[in-house]
Order: sequence, then C-alpha cells, then structure tokens
Amino acid sequence: MKRSVPALPSHQHCTPALAQLLITGGAGFIGSHTCLVLLESGHSVVVLDDFRNSSPKALERVIGLAGPKAAERLTVVRGDVRREQDVARAFEAAPGGQAITAVIHFAGLKAVGESVRQPLTYWDVNVGGSLALLTTMQIHGCRTIAFSSSATLYGCPQQEPIPEHATVKPINPYGQTKAAVEQMLANLATSEAGWRIARLRYFNPVGAHPSGQIGEDPAGVPNNLFPFISQVAVGRRAELLIYGADWPTPDGTGIRDYIHVMDLADGHRMAVEHLLALENDALITLNLGSGRGHSVLELLHCFEQCSGRSIPHRFVDRRPGDAGITVADPTLAFQCLGWKTQRGLKDICRDGWAWQRLNPEGYQN
Ligand code: WQD
Repeated sequence: MKRSVPALPSHQHCTPALAQLLITGGAGFIGSHTCLVLLESGHSVVVLDDFRNSSPKALERVIGLAGPKAAERLTVVRGDVRREQDVARAFEAAPGGQAITAVIHFAGLKAVGESVRQPLTYWDVNVGGSLALLTTMQIHGCRTIAFSSSATLYGCPQQEPIPEHATVKPINPYGQTKAAVEQMLANLATSEAGWRIARLRYFNPVGAHPSGQIGEDPAGVPNNLFPFISQVAVGRRAELLIYGADWPTPDGTGIRDYIHVMDLADGHRMAVEHLLALENDALITLNLGSGRGHSVLELLHCFEQCSGRSIPHRFVDRRPGDAGITVADPTLAFQCLGWKTQRGLKDICRDGWAWQRLNPEGYQN
C-alpha cells in the first residue's frame, strides 16, 4: 500500500542544494565559524575580507579543521566591501567562474563605544559597505542575502523577552547603522522582484569552536564581557570591572542572552539554505538568541569553574548606554528555520577557555 508522505513543516526542507556563497567578513569571529560550518556541510565559499579587524590565520585554521578536500571549496579575496570593484572581484573569484548564489554579509564594525567616538567611520563601513555590496549583487543578478544584524537596534527594550516586532529604537551609532541597513534591505525587497532576504538579529555571540583552534580575537582592549573575562583568566588583564551592581536583577548585575558562536553559525547555514529553497520573494527578520538570560556574575563564576582560574573583579558605576536586561524571544527562528540553540553556558565557557588557553595572544601567537 502506498504510504502518503506527510508534507514537511515549513522549516524542514529536503536535503538542501549545495551553493556557492560569498561571505563578507568571513575571517572574523562569527564569519570564520560560519565558513567552517558551511564547508563541512558541502557548500563552497568565497571570503571577502580586508583583515582590518581579523587575521588570515583564522581561515588557515578553518581549512585545518575542515580538511584538505574542503580547502578546494574555499577562495579568499582580500578587499574592502566599500569598494564595488573589490566586491566585483569576489563575485568573479569562484573556481570555474561559478556564479555566487547567495551572500552572507558579516563585514562591519561592531563596538558600541567606538561607534560613539567615530560615527562617520561606522556609517561609511556599515552602511556604505552594504550599499556597495547590494549594488554589486544587483549587477551580478544575485538577490539572496543573510544580513548580520544586531539586538542593539532594540535600544532599551520595553518588553522582555524581546520579540522581532518590538520597537526598533537604537541608542548608539552602531545600532543606528544596523537599523539603516535593515531599512535599505526592506526598501530593496519592495522595489524589485526576486529578493530573498534574512535579517538576523544576534544577541550576545560568545564562546569558540570546541577544538580551540578558532575563536574571538578582539583588537586591543576587549569592549565585551566574555573576551575580557577570558583574557583575565589567561593572565593578559589584571581584573574585570563590573559595570553596575544595582540593576533590577537577582544579583544586581546586568543580564544578557549569550549565544554560542557555533549555534550562531548553524543559524546562518539554516537561514541561507531556507532562503535558497524558497520559490517566492522573502524578507524575514529573526532573533538569534537562546531565550535564556545570565548575569555578569553567573557568567564569571561559570568561567571560573570551567577554567579553574579565579577572575579578580571590582564593581564600578554603570556603563553609559547599557540596558539592565536584554534577552531574546527566539520563537520565530524555530518556527521558520527549525533552529534553536543547542549549547548552554557551560559549553560556552568550556569552549571559550579552550580557545584562549591554546591562543593566549589570539592569532598573534
Ligand atoms: C555584557 C554585559 C555589561 C564588559 C554588545 C553589543 C552588541 C553585541 C554584543 C554585536 C553588560 C557587562 C561588559 C565589562 C561588564 N555585539 N560588562 N564589564 O553591551 O550586551 O552588547 O556586544 O552585535 O551589539 O552592543 O555586550 O559584552 O559589552 O556587555 O560588566 O568589561 O557585561 O555591562 O551587562 P552588550 P557586553
């Protein structure tokens, strides 16, 4: 008797077609982990990176992890996403002149404090770079893109956890540039047929690949909590300053939605495969977060347990522009992609310490 095959729910496509992808900023923290996941899934990747905030060594490590066969599916183009001729070079760089079928756009600047000090640089790179990329995509007939957006564009959220329909009200130039590019993508989606767009709003990306071979390597003094704690543990920094112990939280310190970078990488792969499987135009906006909040002290104590190192710390005033609690409502990402985080705080701290312990000076080692 012929069994009727149940229709697959929206997010469960059959085996995805392999694609030739362009990854801007593919040597960066999230970009390098995503390139690894894409190569391991059989996709081919062209990376465009100017290495101003990243190291070519990250891609060498990716090849080491993915294996020699996968190395044949990775092409690296050094260039600036703001220059259309550099983006065009990347579009023509795939082996055999293969057409780029989709783009993941990571290239951009992402430090809140720096964006307040250098707003024009942030508008130039984050918005100008996106404009050059999208213009070149149109010329090459490629209209599928996943954009690296950020929860920072919610500003000081009025509701917790935060759904995608929450008010977009960024309070710093970094968040404002992310909101501007999201608007650019929405305008494009209504102006021209054929666009399939995912705007992926990250919460707090942290951790590293469990091998410890690739991880987060911020230039200079880390702005963010996790790399700062890691550098205290390995002896590069003397103590952690905790910004505020008077937040309306159980232990008084700020709460965030920390997401393992490998979960984030999987989310990008699933988003691109979802877009490529669609017949119709699409503009989807998804929160990529765990839906669980952890305080600064919870993260610090978990890291101490995983590393066996003590993290000297001192409580100081709140940091200007900080919110007390920022946690995602990730329901829509599961409904649309079937994606949810698989890793928790212990995985984050164990893997983040493996990276830092093996690479005390990051890729400069
Ligand atoms: C987390 C918590 C701080 C440093 C930023 C960007 C966001 C995203 C992630 C890209 C807060 C506290 C921090 C320190 C501390 N990046 N803290 N001492 O501010 O939530 O988000 O990074 O998309 O866009 O805005 O992350 O790690 O800086 O702060 O006490 O030295 O740790 O107050 O409560 P944030 P963070």
